[in-house]
Amino acid sequence: MKDSYFSLIKQTYQFPQKGFDINKQKLSFHGVSIPRLIEKYGTPFRLSYLPQISNQINNSKELFNKAFKNHNYKGKYQYCYCTKCNHYSHIIKSALKENINLETSSTFDIDIILSLYKKQNISVNITIIHNGYKTDDYLKKIFELQSLGFNNSIIILDSSNELSRILEIAPDTKFKIGLRMAINEEAKSSFNSSRLGIPSNEVLNFYKTKIQNNELLELKMLHFFVDSGIQDKLYYWGEFRTALNLFIDLSKVCSSIDSFNIGGGFPIQNQLNFNYDYEYIIDKIVSKIKTACSNEKIKNPDIYTEFGKYTVGESGAIIFKVLEQKNKMITKIGIS
Ligand SMILES: Cc1ncc(COP(=O)(O)O)c(C=O)c1O
Repeated sequence: MKDSYFSLIKQTYQFPQKGFDINKQKLSFHGVSIPRLIEKYGTPFRLSYLPQISNQINNSKELFNKAFKNHNYKGKYQYCYCTKCNHYSHIIKSALKENINLETSSTFDIDIILSLYKKQNISVNITIIHNGYKTDDYLKKIFELQSLGFNNSIIILDSSNELSRILEIAPDTKFKIGLRMAINEEAKSSFNSSRLGIPSNEVLNFYKTKIQNNELLELKMLHFFVDSGIQDKLYYWGEFRTALNLFIDLSKVCSSIDSFNIGGGFPIQNQLNFNYDYEYIIDKIVSKIKTACSNEKIKNPDIYTEFGKYTVGESGAIIFKVLEQKNKMITKIGIS
């Protein structure tokens, strides 16, 4: 047995991995020779392999649609691109080719939307989910978009105060809203519940007292996001269940709500022993929503996702020069 680091990797993991290849000791990424790029541009440099963005979006769409067929699910799947996950225009334009919706988190994201609109890269018909804490500047820009005709936008309320501020800024405007449910953090976290969103036990009352009788407001969506990621763990499914039960309770008192947004959280291959079963998780998500809706005789909602790192993380790389190598005592980790 050889005792090189390369041998250790070869014996422990599948290598080269998805997207990579080694030919005559030269590494390529999706067929693009990395040594040739290094020769041409020197280091460091950042590369983006744009077709991978389409691949990720289409892979998710295919798996959701497959699960919809398996469970006879009647809602639609809606993929949102979060502008915060990569702001570069060549990346956003690649995502837009795949007929997606957009998600914004701050006032800066609205400038991106306006720029895309001016350059005719998007039309006013695109659906935009406005998430995040709403400063007055952010809100004014959201309504600027609405006055341009972006009428499919949904403002996700992060708190009950936010609604009061919106009604002051745009008192006579009709608009669509969503409610973000705050998740409970994992037991190991230093906080009990997330600062983002409205506590789950306050959502229904908030709807009944502040939204239900306001004719300017149309509630369309319940949103939640487990920031530690979508994992096949009791903790994740517990938060998912709380959100699903809340969606059902809201559906019973509100006829306009038709969308369930599970946020981001799909992991990516950022370690060599990565082994995540996207198909299994997506099928489980769809199956749980379908079963709950059937039991409660509720229409299947459209399912929205806002996968950030999943959309862009595996398409890019930053190449640095190795300045020096240090030898490791490989015998210590069991190779002799
Ligand atoms: C509301 C919301 N949606 C989506 C995302 C993207 O998350 P991820 O990159 O884990 O998919 C984030 C990330 O912070 C977020 O806050």
